[in-house]
Amino acid sequence: MNPAWVQHLLALGMLLGAGHASSSATDTWCYTDPKCGPATWGALGQCNGLKQSPININTSAAVPNAQLDALSLTGYEDGEKLSSMENNGKTVYVHVEDGLRLRGQGLPYVYTAQSFHLHWGEGKQKPGSEHLISDKQFDMELHIVHTKNNLNTSDALQDPQGVAVLAFFLQASDQADSSDAWDSFTQCLKKVPVERNTVHLDDVFSLSDLLGPVDLARYYRYKGSLTTPNCTEAVIWTVFPDPILVSPDVVDAFPSILRSKDGSKLYNNFRPVQSLGDRQVQASAALQNSHSASPALHPAALLLLLLSTAALIWHL
Ligand SMILES: *[C@@H]1O[C@H](CO)[C@@H](O)[C@H](O)[C@H]1NC(C)=O
Ligand SMILES: *[C@@H]1O[C@H](CO)[C@@H](O)[C@H](O)[C@H]1NC(C)=O
Ligand SMILES: *[C@@H]1O[C@H](CO)[C@@H](O)[C@H](O)[C@H]1NC(C)=O
Ligand SMILES: [Zn+2]
Repeated sequence: MNPAWVQHLLALGMLLGAGHASSSATDTWCYTDPKCGPATWGALGQCNGLKQSPININTSAAVPNAQLDALSLTGYEDGEKLSSMENNGKTVYVHVEDGLRLRGQGLPYVYTAQSFHLHWGEGKQKPGSEHLISDKQFDMELHIVHTKNNLNTSDALQDPQGVAVLAFFLQASDQADSSDAWDSFTQCLKKVPVERNTVHLDDVFSLSDLLGPVDLARYYRYKGSLTTPNCTEAVIWTVFPDPILVSPDVVDAFPSILRSKDGSKLYNNFRPVQSLGDRQVQASAALQNSHSASPALHPAALLLLLLSTAALIWHL
């Protein structure tokens, strides 16, 4: 609140951190320990800002934008571009080589995928997505991180429109079509159980395989931040409300296989929702059409519409 107080906290933080050569915000924060959890991140970077992520997307309050049509993704079917998987102690992270491009309305540049990672709770027991859709939390959330004109991440974070993240939910379902891609992903997790473990990926799955039949025309759009310190406010978010359905075993695999450096389980690695403030969330055209069009598509409603139109014409 009081700037002088914040300055003191920052100075104290620097003094405390001075003993460690590589000390920075990025290795002193955590999720589940109250000493370094999300409630303490306010002192780091922009984490106390007014345009933070994630948020709870109130679908009734989202503003329709007819310009927002299907995103264009090129190269996402190429599994050879996914070069390695790493357990970094906070999440499981896949490095993406140059070649996957994202274009779309409301995205002022061509954005290139750099990496992707996930957030989760405690498996089927407890959901752990970061964004909520009208108060609903999903089991997991996949973030594909892209930078403007293929800038490196540190340069992209200097630009308020430097980063574009695509967010997809994963939901455990007994009705899930068996997905070989998520089964392969889960097999790879077993090779990186401990923080700093890395495994080379040899074209075992592609991002298109992981996304499956998700509709790239149905999404919400807003401006926000990274969801980890330094919480830099440089992200154009695209959040897809229709989850990727996966087998319950996939959702259970993450918290049960992965551990951090001290051997503790890697779970509940999601930031709580932040306030929307005076920002606006936009809804893509396809989301809007599905709301207004679905009753009219019902055969009975359509017949009624035809009859009333005919009656109107008759009277004229
Ligand atoms: C995070 O923010 C702090 C304070 O603004 C800064 O000193 C530090 O260099 C930042 N760290 C990174 C990784 O950007
Ligand atoms: C969601 O938005 C609608 C429409 O603006 C509003 O009436 C409602 O109170 C909002 N719900 C919440 C939980 O904020
Ligand atoms: C990012 O790119 C800029 C310019 O291309 C370069 O100066 C900088 O060292 C790079 N940073 C990293 C972390 O690679
Ligand atoms: Zn993330």
